[in-house]
Amino acid sequence: MKKLIKLEINGENFDVAISPAAYLIDVIRETVGLSGTKKGCGVGDCGACTVLIDGRPTLSCITLAVACAGKAITTIEGLSRGSELHPVQRAFIDKGAVQCGFCTPGMVLSSKALLDENPHPSQDEIKTALAGNLCRCTGYAKIIEAVEHAGRLLSGEGCDEQA
Ligand code: FES
Ligand code: FES
Repeated sequence: MKKLIKLEINGENFDVAISPAAYLIDVIRETVGLSGTKKGCGVGDCGACTVLIDGRPTLSCITLAVACAGKAITTIEGLSRGSELHPVQRAFIDKGAVQCGFCTPGMVLSSKALLDENPHPSQDEIKTALAGNLCRCTGYAKIIEAVEHAGRLLSGEGCDEQA
């Protein structure tokens, strides 16, 4: 039997009728229709499905949607303002940290959560924060560079820096 719940996603309220066993990723992608959140392994190993719940990176493939009622959910669609990219998204593009792009939404959200708490993380802190987000393409060096660059952009530094 379906349960009617209210989910707040990217500041917008959605009333959804879902199975109590439904995982958040499926509700976000299929019921709400936001396809930016990616499903990789589906079992909590790759980080592709990362969203923020009350600002904390959370694996939506192993999180029940009913447990998220009343919480603020942020997906990758919630970062940009219209056509203006969030500085973390901008930095990933500027530094060539996006190749196939499958890991990127989760990487960007985990990076944003890190930078919200720690605007100038060390490389080790970045590696730790992104340890649950796997990338098969980039070799990670450019991703780490992008997070450092994003920190500078968010602090208003590095605006004149060449990409
Ligand atoms: S799809 Fe969720 S961790 Fe891989
Ligand atoms: S850019 Fe392809 S998996 Fe990360």
